[in-house]
Amino acid sequence: MLTRQVESILEGERDLVANASQFSAFIYDTIAELNWAGFYLTRPTRNGEGQELLVGPFQGKVACARIPFGKGVCGAAAAERRTMLVPDVHAFPGHIACDSASNAEIVIPLIKDGVVLGVFDIDSPVLNRFSEEDRAGLESLVAAFLAGTDFV
Ligand code: SME
Repeated sequence: MLTRQVESILEGERDLVANASQFSAFIYDTIAELNWAGFYLTRPTRNGEGQELLVGPFQGKVACARIPFGKGVCGAAAAERRTMLVPDVHAFPGHIACDSASNAEIVIPLIKDGVVLGVFDIDSPVLNRFSEEDRAGLESLVAAFLAGTDFV
C-alpha cells in the first residue's frame, strides 16, 4: 500500500530535489517512531579526488553534511552496496552520531544501473526499531523512488 502511495506522490514529476523532498517527508510522516529520514547523495570530494556522501533533502534535525564512503552506517551501505540494518547504533563500529536521540538505524543504498547514487537513511530513537519486514518494505519504497526519479 505504501509503495502505491509513493508511486502516486511522485507521479508526473521526475526532478531529484522535488522527489527526494517529497519522499523524505512521506516516510517521516508515515512511519512511526523516527527522528530522522533523508538522503545522502554521491558527490565528488571537495579536492576532486574520489567521491563521498553529501546530505540531501531530509526531515529531522541538522545532520552531518559530508560522510566518506566506508564511514559510519551510511558510508558502509554506500561502500558495501547493501542495506545496513542496525538494531543499536552504539554497537556499530564507526557510527557517526548526528542526533543523540538516534538508537537504531536503517540505510538503503540507491543503486541505478550499477552506480551508487547515494543512500536513504532512517533513524529511530527506539532500539531494535527495524525488522526484516521493514527492510523489505523500505527497499521496495526506495525502488519506487529510484524508478520515478532522474538523477541527472
Ligand atoms: N548515523 C549516520 C550518520 C547520518 S545521521 O544519522 C543523519 C551514520 O553513522 O552513517
